[in-house]
Amino acid sequence: MTPEPHSPAGTDDLALDPPPGCPAHGRGPGGLHRLHGPEAEDLGALYEELRDEHGAVAPVLLHHDVPIWVVLGHAENLHMVSTPTHFSRDSRLWTAVKDGTAGPEHPLAPHIAWQPICSHAEGVAHLRLRGAVMGAMSTINHRTIRRHINRATQILVNRFCEKGRADLVSQFAEHLPMAVLCQILGMPDEYDDRLVQATRDLLKGTETAIASNEYVMNILIRHTARRRDQPGDDFTGHLINHPAGLTDDEVAQHLRLVLLAAYEATANLLANVLRVVLIDPRFRARLNGGQMTVPEAVEQSLWDEPPFSAVLGYFAKQDTELGGRTIRRGDGLILGIAPGNIDPRVRPDLKADMMGNRSHLAFGGGPHECPGQDIGRAIADVGVEALLMRLPDVELEGDEDELRWRSSMSSRHLVELPVYFEPQPPEEVEDVPPAWPVPPQRQPWQIGTDQSAASAPRREPSLPMSTAAPMVTPPAPAQAPVPAPVRPAGAWQRFLAWWRGY
Ligand code: HEM
Repeated sequence: MTPEPHSPAGTDDLALDPPPGCPAHGRGPGGLHRLHGPEAEDLGALYEELRDEHGAVAPVLLHHDVPIWVVLGHAENLHMVSTPTHFSRDSRLWTAVKDGTAGPEHPLAPHIAWQPICSHAEGVAHLRLRGAVMGAMSTINHRTIRRHINRATQILVNRFCEKGRADLVSQFAEHLPMAVLCQILGMPDEYDDRLVQATRDLLKGTETAIASNEYVMNILIRHTARRRDQPGDDFTGHLINHPAGLTDDEVAQHLRLVLLAAYEATANLLANVLRVVLIDPRFRARLNGGQMTVPEAVEQSLWDEPPFSAVLGYFAKQDTELGGRTIRRGDGLILGIAPGNIDPRVRPDLKADMMGNRSHLAFGGGPHECPGQDIGRAIADVGVEALLMRLPDVELEGDEDELRWRSSMSSRHLVELPVYFEPQPPEEVEDVPPAWPVPPQRQPWQIGTDQSAASAPRREPSLPMSTAAPMVTPPAPAQAPVPAPVRPAGAWQRFLAWWRGY
């Protein structure tokens, strides 16, 4: 079947440039705004201009002037992600991919290129791959993970606490998620500075990104092979053993998906929450008065500075309508998380406290809604809480307005967060009991069972429960293990050695 012509501009005149003197001058073909380059330096302001000009769904241009829609409305974004009959994540449907204008040489190709992973899959293939991810995720013991997060925080704080100064981005937020994720994937020994650097490098898309990607993939392929030989009670082991029967390549690709998506998003979230904690007088005053919890600050940050500001993309499976615009089959659409979160129809007053409300778009929605959100939240909650316990007098060094941000279409994150505090001696770090029982696979909604999660309003889980197929259920332990109170002499040195990879 011949695809419909691609016309997200709602005009057939994409090739025409505006005449000199026209206010559209400096824009791209058809007078459309570009989402990159000098005019997109302040993307937040550009989205608001687009909202004023076009409403909830606006036509824009990507690099190489490839046309696409950006969805700015909260309801329209939710409708798009929740209507898989009309909108798909399979980029092979996109007219720009089919006609080669968004081909392999396009700067956004790494975001666009279709891969056999659950975030690009649809229908039965999606259920199979996502079912395996959800099944493996449901075996994660939430309490144990919180202990690992706390422990990793203590080790990181020990690295800088005697100095009285630190950069909480490079010395904390960029490390904690990687340490925890390596633990979840069952490869704690692989965590080190080099893996953090390689991951940051490949996400930045620098000229060394390909080599960094190879470095990360080699680690994941080796780890998959090792787990195939020696099954383990970790995410990787459960992914391999899931009845969906993933190949080694599929397992390694999903480990990469989890490691990269989770790492970048959680590192951004941590830095953003720390910034709120340091600068927002409401939070500081309330924290002292015991009125605002860290989880509430996390939720506020997920509204105001979502870790992914946009996701490229969704693709129309048929002619349809969204936000009053005609969308043609084969059109591409950007999930506008940041603009959707500040849609004036849901947030008429941006300064109003969201009080832990979870209906933001930070984790997407519908069949592809982030399955790791409770882990991301736990890393931010426990990490920030534990850091504040160790450094209760921590203050931002310098002025808030001097903080530098790095932005791209998909994320906006802090470059550094310098702080000072009264120097503290390092503290000894307790080990996490190694033999916590492996719980049977649970349903997605059971992953986060802390009080705040249970009481906060949230959307319904988007997948049918049957997608998390049950696996081997180990016998229940006779009693819950208790952390060993006695620490062997020299434990701190051993932890340091482990941490540094000796
Ligand atoms: C603050 C932290 C996180 C944020 C903000 C975040 C955000 C997102 C977003 C926006 C999506 C795309 C949703 C869509 O297309 O509608 C996504 C998908 C995904 N996330 Fe997360 N994520 C976070 C943490 C994690 C963690 C910790 C894990 C795993 C341990 C994870 C695993 C995944 C996976 C596997 C997908 C693909 C799901 C699918 O397509 O079916 N994420 N995430």
